[in-house]
Amino acid sequence: MDPRSGCEAEVGGQTVSLPVAVCVSGRGSNLQALIDAISTGRLDARIVLVASSRADAPAVERARSTGIPVAGFPVTNATRAEAQGAMGGAIRDAGARLVVLAGYDRILADAFWDLLGDVPVINIHPSLLPAFGGLSGLKVHEAVIASGASESGATVHTAHKGRLDEGEILAQRRVPVRPGDTPQVLAARVLETEHEAIVDAVARFVSQAALAGRTSRRTGPGM
Ligand code: GRF
Repeated sequence: MDPRSGCEAEVGGQTVSLPVAVCVSGRGSNLQALIDAISTGRLDARIVLVASSRADAPAVERARSTGIPVAGFPVTNATRAEAQGAMGGAIRDAGARLVVLAGYDRILADAFWDLLGDVPVINIHPSLLPAFGGLSGLKVHEAVIASGASESGATVHTAHKGRLDEGEILAQRRVPVRPGDTPQVLAARVLETEHEAIVDAVARFVSQAALAGRTSRRTGPGM
């Protein structure tokens, strides 16, 4: 199935297929989890745009090979606000009703939020937030192991202007931290659960949209 078309469902007489934009910078395994969930019918959504901060990100190739529209918004310290403002505007223009930050590796400038408007944004983080917020990559797992915590996990939360790794928690998965875990081993264990959590969180927005009866690929009054 074309992941852009999603799996349409009749809910209360409405055809539902939530338009989603995904912001990426790297590997793209969470993007892949969304593509797969759409393809198998688990998720009634369609990816209208993948926006990348890096042209050479493997995530970009994953999107392209599946026929999903991709746009690059390369970020340098000098151009961050401009690039991210353009990204917010492009996402809005693409008609997204949800933005997923799936391994997007830059803090979002105010211009992004201002040009995006009122589209909700969610982020996936590889720890049990609020614990270990503000860290990224392997640093998260290094800190978890150093703390002696017996468990870690993945969190999907709403993201907001001017706040980092904070927001309403939408989905969380827990994993054990085992004796002898290296940051890499723990990261891999957490990553598996990220893929479940991200799909669950997006599914919540699909359900909300279905209940509100306001998304429809062709005829929805809200589109
Ligand atoms: C994930 O660990 C995610 O939690 C973090 O960045 C990583 C992205 O991985 N925000 P991928 O690009 O989705 O594979």
